[in-house]
Amino acid sequence: MAAEAIVIDAGSRLLKAGFAIPEQDPQLVMQTAMTKADEGDIDKIDLNGDDWKENAVNPIERGAIHDWEAMEDLWRYVFYTGLGWEVGNEGQILIADSLLTRKASLFLLSFLCFLRSSFFHFIAREKTVQLMFETFNVNGFYAVEQPVLSVYAVGRISGCAVDVGHGKIDIAPVWEGGIQHNAVKRFEYAGQDLTELLGTKLAKSNPHTKLDGFALEQIKEAVAVSLDDSVDYEKKVAEGSVIEHTLPDGRVISVGSERYTLGEVLYQPSLVEIQEYGITEQLVRSLSLCSPAECQKPLIENIVLCFEARFQKEVSLHGTPSLRPSVVKPPEYMPERTLQYSAWIGGAILAKVVFPQNQHLTKGDYDEYGPNIVHRKCY
Ligand SMILES: Nc1ncnc2c1ncn2[C@@H]1O[C@H](COP(=O)(O)OP(=O)(O)OP(=O)(O)O)[C@@H](O)[C@H]1O
Ligand SMILES: [Mg+2]
Repeated sequence: MAAEAIVIDAGSRLLKAGFAIPEQDPQLVMQTAMTKADEGDIDKIDLNGDDWKENAVNPIERGAIHDWEAMEDLWRYVFYTGLGWEVGNEGQILIADSLLTRKASLFLLSFLCFLRSSFFHFIAREKTVQLMFETFNVNGFYAVEQPVLSVYAVGRISGCAVDVGHGKIDIAPVWEGGIQHNAVKRFEYAGQDLTELLGTKLAKSNPHTKLDGFALEQIKEAVAVSLDDSVDYEKKVAEGSVIEHTLPDGRVISVGSERYTLGEVLYQPSLVEIQEYGITEQLVRSLSLCSPAECQKPLIENIVLCFEARFQKEVSLHGTPSLRPSVVKPPEYMPERTLQYSAWIGGAILAKVVFPQNQHLTKGDYDEYGPNIVHRKCY
């Protein structure tokens, strides 16, 4: 039997990769940032090393590839070192593609931004398929936008994916396997901005402790708390409690209400002076743009998101007697981290269908039609 296809979801912070076995987590979860060795190979990141931080490059920013040379090195590492493909005997690949973002608007600036992002996305897909066939000699290729895969991961073909990532937050309604692009919302404010916010706050409260971005990430993951609602948030801030947090090297820092603010910003962007709706209100607004109107009810009843209970409570406040928002739970037989790795797991599920049924792009297709065949065969 041919080996399973490789599925890759390369995020702004974490790359998830592995053979398409949907019943398990991806075999490889690693930082997307990396250092380059002299010979052109890449070293896997060493979180404790001192010099890599200065030399680290991150090929992905806000979900999109911006350094192609580094991305090629990263793919090479994943295929041959991380997952054990042999040169000359490569298999098939499914890529969890970043969402094609901004919707077209009649405002000139927004319209130009839309055209620019669509153009880059278009070119990136062609470049990816070209590298896969010409550099890595894969023998089958498929790419699907991440929100579609997140919905597949919970056993649906329709639903609304809410992906709070490191570089972006995407709210994307998916109807019968297709994204409703006119209703999509992307916030370019996400995990990395919350980490930065934490850094600014801690620099004030702990002026003598120098903290780099990676230490801040670890602190954020250890101390950030999302409270039940904004009333609870106001109460905690007023209490002014401070906790002590011990860093891996033994230094101790104090952390105040900023640990609550990080989660709250998602629901109240005005806290950081962002003029946007919170994620729950935005979700309901996005869904109201979906058509046909009959699809709005099933979509709001099938929200797929990757984190915590507050969302369910808050989104319910935006419901009506006939439209009751509901967050979908993955089936019990799925891995524990199905939501955290939903794009990868959905990709593994899809790979089990696409490749055996020959719906993928073959080397023959590529040779005959060139890289732009990807727009016709992959959605
Ligand atoms: N326990 C936690 N508390 C707070 N934040 C967390 C926690 N665990 C992970 N995160 C944050 O979630 C983000 C990583 O999410 P994810 O792996 O979905 O992003 P990504 O796929 O790398 O990025 P993107 O999809 O935006 O390109 C990081 O900012 C990380 O710090
Ligand atoms: Mg992601």
